[in-house]
Amino acid sequence: MPLDPAEVLAARGTDRHGELAKAANVAYHDWEAGQYDDKWGISYDQRCIDYARDRFVHVAGVDGWPYPRALEVGAGTGFFLLNLAQAGVLSEGEVTDLSPGMVQVAVRNGRSLGLQVDGRVADAERLPYDDDSFDLVVGHAVLHHIPDVEQAVREVLRVLRPGGRFVFAGEPTRKGDWVARRLSRLTWWTASRVTQWPPLRERWARPPAELAEHSQAAALEAVVDLHTFDPDRLNALCQRAGAIDVRTVTDELTASWFGWPVRTFEAAVRPGALGWGWAMFAYRTWQQLSWLDERVLARIVPAEVFYNVSVTGVRPG
Ligand SMILES: C[S@@+](CC[C@H](N)C(=O)[O-])C[C@H]1O[C@@H](n2cnc3c(N)ncnc32)[C@H](O)[C@@H]1O
Repeated sequence: MPLDPAEVLAARGTDRHGELAKAANVAYHDWEAGQYDDKWGISYDQRCIDYARDRFVHVAGVDGWPYPRALEVGAGTGFFLLNLAQAGVLSEGEVTDLSPGMVQVAVRNGRSLGLQVDGRVADAERLPYDDDSFDLVVGHAVLHHIPDVEQAVREVLRVLRPGGRFVFAGEPTRKGDWVARRLSRLTWWTASRVTQWPPLRERWARPPAELAEHSQAAALEAVVDLHTFDPDRLNALCQRAGAIDVRTVTDELTASWFGWPVRTFEAAVRPGALGWGWAMFAYRTWQQLSWLDERVLARIVPAEVFYNVSVTGVRPG
């Protein structure tokens, strides 16, 4: 990761910032590509098929399935599109990402699932496709990395056929992200110190070289996360870009208060130290909290406090 995060930070507010932020995104996500699925607990089995389908249905419903031709922007390792394809949401799909390392892994993941998925390195602000090419464009956890989000939505609308739909899910809300980051920092600070205590060190502490690499990556991560979103403003942005029938929904409140510290703790301790029992405990607890968030808290807590926002809209016909 030769790019200096301080240089990206110093360029904020100047014309150079957008391109430097993109270079930081490529460096960071190329570095992450090989370990990304493990780090985020991504799989291509029923667990993640259900998760991806539920996120999609929550914001966009089930009309139009299967969409004949779909594109994913900022696909990473292919989590959203590959699982949506397996769920029957779309028939044919292409994955794109700014990071060549991610595109390589996404295409490999598609092949290993027996799916015919092409991949291209592409910036969401300048998609290398003709007008009217797709029936559906999706993205997951990508908008917050893109310097000019409105330009990206304009591009998405350009490559959609008239009447085609876009769905972006898993974007951080402003308020939800504020809480999650503080919980994560506190967890990292505590775990990285407690595991250095001599009786615990051998089994639990990550080797110093790995911790140093992680700190370097965390510095770069801080400059690739460019935005958080208020649901209403995201809705207005999509309408300004030209979309109609725009709708935003939010999810994950207590699930994110649990999930972020858990993921941070897992990254702070020696790989393999926690084992299968921990993984099951973390997943089941997260599932129960998600149920509580969706069935109970969503009725009484303001939408903008939840962690994730998803948005859908349609290209005018
Ligand atoms: C947080 S990851 C999410 C990956 C995947 N969608 C998922 O949910 O697992 C964000 C991805 O967006 C990509 N990205 C960042 N800026 C981009 C841009 N301007 N155009 C396209 N992709 C971009 C990154 O390379 C990275 O793979």
